[in-house]
Amino acid sequence: MTLTRSSLGALQESLIRKLANQAMGQAGVVPLWFGEPDRPTPEFIREVAKSSLDEGNTFYQPNAGIPALRQAISSYMNTLYGSRFGAENIVVTGSGMAAVMLAGQCLVSPGDVLVTHVPTWPNLPSAQQVLGAEVRRVPLEAKADGWTLDLDRLFEACARGAKALLINSPSNPTGWMLSDEEQQTILDFCRKRGLWLIADEVYNRIVFDRPYAPTFADKIVEGDRVIIINSFSKSWAMTGWRLGWLTVPKHLTPTFEMLTEYSTSCVLGATQVAGIAAVERGETFIRESNERYRASLELLHSRFAALPRIFFPPPRAAFYAFFAVEGVADSFRFASETLASTRVGLAPGAAFGPEGEGFLRLCFAVEPDLLAEALERLEPVLF
Ligand SMILES: Cc1ncc(COP(=O)(O)O)c(C=O)c1O
Repeated sequence: MTLTRSSLGALQESLIRKLANQAMGQAGVVPLWFGEPDRPTPEFIREVAKSSLDEGNTFYQPNAGIPALRQAISSYMNTLYGSRFGAENIVVTGSGMAAVMLAGQCLVSPGDVLVTHVPTWPNLPSAQQVLGAEVRRVPLEAKADGWTLDLDRLFEACARGAKALLINSPSNPTGWMLSDEEQQTILDFCRKRGLWLIADEVYNRIVFDRPYAPTFADKIVEGDRVIIINSFSKSWAMTGWRLGWLTVPKHLTPTFEMLTEYSTSCVLGATQVAGIAAVERGETFIRESNERYRASLELLHSRFAALPRIFFPPPRAAFYAFFAVEGVADSFRFASETLASTRVGLAPGAAFGPEGEGFLRLCFAVEPDLLAEALERLEPVLF
């Protein structure tokens, strides 16, 4: 087959999708492969969208999002982080994924070099590769007490002509998280070198011992070359809605409006008003969800402790367990056979790059009872 765009040749199909396609929607399967909460979007958010649709809110909307949502997002961020963003720093996008792509379209020319840490959610580097970027990969280190990133190695990888750093903290799939001090060091480095920083913070609120994970949002000032990616998917259980946002320096907002015009043009108005309800009234839901995830994580730790073949560096945030199973060299095959024999769907570590091979990812954003059931079935193959 001739591909119309040369950069597409380097792309891999998503191994998570490939595995899920084997049994998605089948009765009896416990799906822990995708990164999404098991509960539907809270009712107070759904109701707002329903009324909005009934009122006829079905028309085209402004490229950067409706002013009320942009204002609500900036207030949400400022209240939480003590930052000073205005509505003009916010661009509403049709998902976090769309925000990732728009950030790339704004910054990346073919041949540009981006540096990121791995293993990583594959869409992050892949979107940049579609645009013709070269992505340099710096491995995180898996240790018994969690994942770490050697910042010197990260900075060395920027040496030969890198244009941007792509950071995802808290990270999918590892649950690795930068500290505030590390973020400040990265920001200082980017400032000194004139590098762009794309910070994917979609898991910023999925954290168990504080209100939010360390964020670049409370460190940057207007004019910093930083683009922050966010999403309604995870914190407010809105994965199917496709709603996210970018926080950008003001001078780039018109560029993002143009890029949005030439891709999706806008997001449905009813979805956007639902987003306002989420950021204005979602704190209780976030708190309760995190308590539930924490209980699931504790259950995982206690059950995995009894399995000698499992190496499970504890996640600091997000809702994934990324663990290695001794003796597993082909994670796709293992996940596939495990699905067939236990009817539990795990994501193969290889989906997150060669650095993830030998690992499996389990999304624990599910009821502890369901997780207990899944573990019951998994234990014979993991033991
Ligand atoms: C690190 C990361 N960024 C962005 C996204 C995109 O989320 P969405 O497109 O659902 O908003 C995901 C989803 O899994 C993710 O894991």
